[in-house]
Amino acid sequence: MLQRSRCTLTIKVALFLAVLAFGTATLRAQDARRAKESTVSWHTTRSSPDDLEISGELNEIPAGTIRYLTRADLLALPQVSYTVKGDPNFAGPTRVSGVLLEELSRRFGSRPEADMVQATCVDLYQSHYPQSYIAAHHPILVLTINGQPPERWPTDGAGHGMDMGPYLISHEAFTPSFHVLGHSDEAQIPWGVVRLEFRDEESVLGAIAPRGARAKDHAVLDGYRIAQQNCFRCHNMGSEGGRKARHPWFVLAGWAASYPEYFAAYVRDPKKKNLQSQMPGSPNYDDATIQALIAYFRTFVVEEKP
Ligand code: HEC
Repeated sequence: MLQRSRCTLTIKVALFLAVLAFGTATLRAQDARRAKESTVSWHTTRSSPDDLEISGELNEIPAGTIRYLTRADLLALPQVSYTVKGDPNFAGPTRVSGVLLEELSRRFGSRPEADMVQATCVDLYQSHYPQSYIAAHHPILVLTINGQPPERWPTDGAGHGMDMGPYLISHEAFTPSFHVLGHSDEAQIPWGVVRLEFRDEESVLGAIAPRGARAKDHAVLDGYRIAQQNCFRCHNMGSEGGRKARHPWFVLAGWAASYPEYFAAYVRDPKKKNLQSQMPGSPNYDDATIQALIAYFRTFVVEEKP
């Protein structure tokens, strides 16, 4: 009896040790995989116009510094490939391959669960990819189009004959995931992308959070949501946001507060006010949508009494 229970005990101990050893080995293998996964050769200088600038709040790189990844570095990461339909950058269904932004964020971002990916183009247009957008649409950093590198890509879909490299962002398919008044969630599909940043979403969007006594008004918050996805791509607030327009947030706020009719007309159809305009119009914005934008932008100018 005693003999047998000692024997069972020995078997139990042996089993326990085996499980422990297996567990440790598995953990070690996971660590090794993670370490291997995060190894990417960060370059401190640019070696080609096709290198992608990477910065922001990153795992392996001090905040505020810029590193470069070559096309070859990016091609060495896990690739996805599919036929894109309904992307106005392409004439018809087009085969693309590249790396998912969520894959890049998971590898490089310091807080993948809170990181916003921000893509900046050669003309300082900027697309922002909050977590909610990434989860809904799975944007991809495109590396090849129809199997070809950027020098053999088609030119831009708007017919300006512009090169769309070195990088562009697309989606397998896009269905709007939210609507705010007359604004529908819009595909963020920049081309000429030269930099990706992994940023803290709260601090980026915080830069354009409404101010003052009306900051929590319903219309103001609607305007804020629309401006995040639309205006912020080209109009900057200090160091945040796109700089393509060269008319910063406070200039728009000034128009909204002092000349709301001009502001409204410009947003709906900029070419009517300025033949040379580079700004896309938003003809679908009805009065409530325009009023929400005006109410939002005014919070940067006037301290209204509640
Ligand atoms: C794709 C880039 C882009 C987007 C997005 C964009 N703008 Fe613009 N905006 C411009 C550019 C560029 C100008 C400079 C003049 C021009 O080309 O129209 C401009 C000028 C303006 C002006 C006129 C300023 C002046 O001094 O006359 C207003 C008002 C304006 N934008 C408001 C907005 C608002 C509000 C939004 C969001 C609903 C927005 N813009 C979105 C690019 C953009």
